[in-house]
Amino acid sequence: MKVTVVGAGAVGASCAEYIAIQNFASEVVLVDIKEGYAEGKAMDLMQTSSLLGFDTKIVGSTNDYSKTAGSEVAVITSGIPRKPGMTREELIGINAGIVKTVSENLVKHSPNIIIIVVSNPMDTMAYLAHKSTGLPKNRIIGMGGALDSARFKYRLAEALDCPQSDVSAMVIGGHSDTGMLPLTRIATRNSVLISEFLSSERLDEVSQATMVGGATLTKMLGTSAWYAPGAAVSAMVHAIAADSKKMFPCSAMLEGEFGLNDISIGVPCIIGRNGIEKIVEIELSDAEQDKLSNSATAVAKTNTLLDA
Ligand code: 2OP
Repeated sequence: MKVTVVGAGAVGASCAEYIAIQNFASEVVLVDIKEGYAEGKAMDLMQTSSLLGFDTKIVGSTNDYSKTAGSEVAVITSGIPRKPGMTREELIGINAGIVKTVSENLVKHSPNIIIIVVSNPMDTMAYLAHKSTGLPKNRIIGMGGALDSARFKYRLAEALDCPQSDVSAMVIGGHSDTGMLPLTRIATRNSVLISEFLSSERLDEVSQATMVGGATLTKMLGTSAWYAPGAAVSAMVHAIAADSKKMFPCSAMLEGEFGLNDISIGVPCIIGRNGIEKIVEIELSDAEQDKLSNSATAVAKTNTLLDA
């Protein structure tokens, strides 16, 4: 499988590295606008090949999309990351134009591509990719929930003092500091409901820590996180390559699911060779549905800034 990663910054390079290490892709094309930067990162990554034992070929391209031709999947990480104190939504003015141009360039050279959007504000950038490419809705996936769920599992395992592998948990809703919905009601520790172990107060603390997981790291690092975002999106690329029908919460274009229309927001999706194979309309409590609807209202409001 040929994969393109646009943006050779920390998230994009981490994504390329994790894809290569998993050795399921024949080629990864790393694209950046900065002269020689993607080529340098690709060369550095290729020099780990004999050490880490992968055969994936990683090549760099300075804004030449002809090298991406024939890509089955593309990951868009390009644009600016947030700084401490910023919301993801504040990035829209710069990132929207970048994501639109990148999406159009990708489809021009790979008409049947599946695009995974990482750039923020992610739900709105995914919506923009739908509107600017006209790709079938199953071929544009927003990556936020996979990352937020990983942070949710991290916080739950911390609270439970147990291995993260024992925890199953999902975050849906908007990929924003206030719009995320960690589904504490159905989270489990090895099939036992988490509510058997943690009080509602402690679960609220875990939910809050999850929602601001990105902002917490941005404050510590001075810029957005990159390891977990890169790992989350590489796991989705693998699910496509392997046609694994794995379920991730992804930002998907909704047409009535969960009572929502004309919006891309985080919902449970089965991911396989065709991208979003199915949106899974899980049963939500009234409170959860209200939170998801409110989150969608906030994303829809951000979407209106695209026309501004
Ligand atoms: C994060 O939450 C970059 O939005 C991404 O870290």
